[in-house]
Amino acid sequence: MAENKKMSTAEILAAARAAKAAKAEAVEAAPSADATDKPAPQPAAAKPAAAKPAGGAGGRPSVAEIMALARAKKEAEQGGSPAAAAEKPAPKPAAPKAPAAEKAPAAEKAPVAKPAAKAAAAKSVTRDTASILAAARTGAKPGPVSKADAPPRPAVAAESAAAVVKAPPAKLAAAPALPPKPVKPVAKKGAEAEQDRRGFLEMALGSFMATGFTALSMTGGLFGLGLARFMFPNVLAEPPSRFKVGFREGFPAGKVETKYVAQYGVWVVNSDIGGQQQIYALKTVCTHLGCTPNWLEAEQKFKCPCHGSGFYKDGVNFEGPAPRPLERYAIRIADDGQLEIDKGRTYHEELGQWADPESYITV
Ligand code: FES
Repeated sequence: MAENKKMSTAEILAAARAAKAAKAEAVEAAPSADATDKPAPQPAAAKPAAAKPAGGAGGRPSVAEIMALARAKKEAEQGGSPAAAAEKPAPKPAAPKAPAAEKAPAAEKAPVAKPAAKAAAAKSVTRDTASILAAARTGAKPGPVSKADAPPRPAVAAESAAAVVKAPPAKLAAAPALPPKPVKPVAKKGAEAEQDRRGFLEMALGSFMATGFTALSMTGGLFGLGLARFMFPNVLAEPPSRFKVGFREGFPAGKVETKYVAQYGVWVVNSDIGGQQQIYALKTVCTHLGCTPNWLEAEQKFKCPCHGSGFYKDGVNFEGPAPRPLERYAIRIADDGQLEIDKGRTYHEELGQWADPESYITV
């Protein structure tokens, strides 16, 4: 069978023609034999096969008949006589058709699975057989068909399909490389995460407590400073309201002593007041707006530098805006004979207080 498949269509046709010619010669030689001998029953059996026209349509041989003739020709060439081949009963036309029809699809499928060389040879045979079958059905003369007339090759479709199947890897290889995915942070596991949370809470609580204690300490310190300030206030040291200025002999008549102005704010004056020699203490505060007047020895008056008020030696105002006379402090002779001035008590002339014996000392 394999040798039969390898035979080309031209060889098959040549073998068929040779077999047909041999049969025709055998038919022509048969009457002569019948004339001498009685006809044997066997030639009758072979006669229909030889006389029967090959093929069922228009006297043309069918594919099965062509194949059978090819086999007979080959067997005759290998050792058998043409007569034996001719005597061999021809197979029925219907019987060989079924195997041929069954073999055609198998031959078509073979190129897909077998190697390239075998597939190419099988495809040529299959294609030729199919073309022969198609021509036999349509009544045309069987023979080789051109590639243009041949049906589409399944192997080409299979090859294209294989190419399509193989294409994706090339496309994938040529595809641009995707950027690397970012590495996901690894989540810490139970004990470690719990330890971290505790550490964070302890740190936060410690910071909160430290801040609270710091604020409390600062508040306590400020409170202590305020308390100390309250207990020890910054008080100006004022001179005592009573002070001694010396003995009366140290204040001659008509004299204004100015040496106690800076320290005590007092003029000690020995002057004649209404025919009586008195020593008294004048307050060094202008009755206008509180400035400190100056004693002008040459002019025998007190002159205020602020607004020009003027006062006599006895303290009575006589010029300027001052509304009233200067005030006097209380004065007395202390136990030790010195003059003692008390700034806690003042005497006003407009109130008639200068007549009070505590507002002066007689000399
Ligand atoms: Fe002495 Fe005004 S304050 S005159």
